[in-house]
Amino acid sequence: MKSASTTDLLHQIPEDLLYTHHPKPVRHEIIESKTPLDTKALETIDIKADLHRKPVTLSDKLAFFIVKLLRLPTDWFFKKKYIHRAVMLETVAAVPGMVGATVRHLRSLRKLQHDGGWIDHLLHEAENERMHLMTWMRVSQPNLWERTLITIVQGGFYNTFFLLYLLSPKTAHRVVGYLEEEAIVSYSSFLKEIDNGNIENTKNVPDIAIDYWNLNKDTATLRDLVLAIRADEATHRDTNHHFADRILLGHEDLRDDVERIFKGDAGGKANKMAGLTDEAAEKWKWNK
Ligand SMILES: [Fe+2]
Ligand SMILES: [Fe+2]
Repeated sequence: MKSASTTDLLHQIPEDLLYTHHPKPVRHEIIESKTPLDTKALETIDIKADLHRKPVTLSDKLAFFIVKLLRLPTDWFFKKKYIHRAVMLETVAAVPGMVGATVRHLRSLRKLQHDGGWIDHLLHEAENERMHLMTWMRVSQPNLWERTLITIVQGGFYNTFFLLYLLSPKTAHRVVGYLEEEAIVSYSSFLKEIDNGNIENTKNVPDIAIDYWNLNKDTATLRDLVLAIRADEATHRDTNHHFADRILLGHEDLRDDVERIFKGDAGGKANKMAGLTDEAAEKWKWNK
């Protein structure tokens, strides 16, 4: 059989593949903003940077211990190389959402049941963390040694987290909640280094970031980027602690609660919270 040439392949591309997916941010402040966000707007986002979920149950304490343990080699290896640290951490941070979504997807198929509205959020989390990575990759390129380390860490982390999610999804989400608390600490230290002049607050912000977070392209700086990413981490902190609480309480289905909150509010808060304001829907819908 004659092998297809590149030109043949391009002619054969199914039309549906011409529709590319435009990644959507996770925070409503960014999705809904009618104007590009500048430093002041990003600083106004209330992320509660110091929020810490006190470990109560044994599962919480185990999760907290795991995260504190993971922090030690990270601090030792990267010290104050914040951008390199961010690249490495984001390669790890983008894993749990995909694992959680996979396990819940399989469970939904196996039990012939709706997933209760979690899968989309978990996939969205994984995509958002991958966008953090794609952004940092345009700011700094990891060296060969770091790339090797990334591959080794991914093999270990993916499989360990997958096993943990199978055994105790509650602990797995709590681990992510605490990982995100640590991510906020790291990005806050990053901001401090920029503010005291140890890291240059460059205006060389990649286009992918300006587009994704709707940043002001004339004024965007590295500091704005860190503020935007730290705000995303706060969302993941809150959602993952919430997911762990839901499993603990045996009340996993999100749908009834969401419906109750939006009752009598047709088209108002419900649409707003779902990121479906006219402008947002127009901007973030699938585009060609
Ligand atoms: Fe991240
Ligand atoms: Fe994160």
